[in-house]
Amino acid sequence: MKTSGDAKDAAPAPGKPQKPRKRARGPSQKVLERELQHHLDEMAGIREAVPPPELLDEAAHAVAQARRELAALREAVQRRLLARLAGRRPRVAANGLPEAVVGDWQEWHGQMRRELSAAAIDDAPGKLDYVATYLMGCTPAMLPVALAVAPPAGEFLDALRELMVARLREGAPAQYVVNRAYFLDLTLVADPRALIPRPETEEWTDALIRHLSGQPQLAPSYRAVEPRPRTEGRAFRIHDVCTGSGCVALALAQAFPAAVVSASDLSADALAQAEENARRNGLRVAFRQANLLDGLPDASLDVLTANPPYISRKDYARLDPTVRDFEPRRALVGGTSGLELISRLAAEAPRVLKSGAEFWMEIGDDQGPATEKSLCQTDQYSQIQILSDFGGRARLARAIRR
Ligand SMILES: C[S@@+](CC[C@H](N)C(=O)[O-])C[C@H]1O[C@@H](n2cnc3c(N)ncnc32)[C@H](O)[C@@H]1O
Repeated sequence: MKTSGDAKDAAPAPGKPQKPRKRARGPSQKVLERELQHHLDEMAGIREAVPPPELLDEAAHAVAQARRELAALREAVQRRLLARLAGRRPRVAANGLPEAVVGDWQEWHGQMRRELSAAAIDDAPGKLDYVATYLMGCTPAMLPVALAVAPPAGEFLDALRELMVARLREGAPAQYVVNRAYFLDLTLVADPRALIPRPETEEWTDALIRHLSGQPQLAPSYRAVEPRPRTEGRAFRIHDVCTGSGCVALALAQAFPAAVVSASDLSADALAQAEENARRNGLRVAFRQANLLDGLPDASLDVLTANPPYISRKDYARLDPTVRDFEPRRALVGGTSGLELISRLAAEAPRVLKSGAEFWMEIGDDQGPATEKSLCQTDQYSQIQILSDFGGRARLARAIRR
């Protein structure tokens, strides 16, 4: 819209004597009133507007299209799965869909749950849903919708049973069965090269990200951790020791793209998986093989994170077979008492931390007092906290370098 301000800036007509320039004034009150009235009329129009039928039709069309695309995608996955399993092309019904896509998912699901529960498989429904989520190519939250749009059935369910449920029945963790694990905003490869990331680790990693970003904590147990002003840049250095799948290091690299993030592990297998996870998520972390903090320069880090193995030899023997028989022993056992690596890290961390740096280390739920003692013994930390997870179990030691 034109205003008196626009006219004021127009060039004078050629040949006319130039009048002395008036002092620049804003638009007159009359113009402002007209503009205000115009905006008020517009707003009243918007408030009274009812979506026109064409827009509603368009929205309905888009929803229907999305449903068709979702169903087609899932059918393509099923088709490939069936073909791979049977070594032949799946039979196709007159409507072009695999014949398998007819039937009763609920009944199958119930039967599988009963079979897995009878085989003493812990959290059978959760594990079945994990596998189903992967196969339907959707997020866990979308699983009910995906199943409602086109429930899998028949031959597909036989294939599912043969490929996946048989492994669950053997006790394999659901993440290893589908080779996927989810950690904060990351989708990771999961296989026996490294430990499966746990929700407790996810919880404290999220708390650390919030703390370093200057945000208040969501988890009640981490409310004692005050937000600190966000500091980031090439000079901000984070290291994750005992990195395994790389989950913690990668989540930090994603949250702080300008920081320099590195990570280490003793296991070459775990590092290969961590590198694959970095590639798949398009993140940059410098991984290297090392025994704990070996090779890290003195006073170089702003943040050190660690989730070392902390199970005692005795507890390892009693561990649930779905963990003990599948996940790497080196990722679980922390010496005879379980405290060996925790004490070493408590003693060695001050060397690599800058003054004021954060040290966050996951511990076993009965290791709070012993860890606090190890940290105090160094006399190098200005603040030490033992924090609990969502289940109220002591889970994390936080210390600040003097
Ligand atoms: C409990 S897992 C943690 C993996 C990952 N950070 C996580 O939270 O899921 C412990 C990791 O420590 C590694 N590890 C064991 N002993 C080590 C050592 N002396 N130095 C470095 N890493 C070690 C294991 O290979 C394993 O990947």
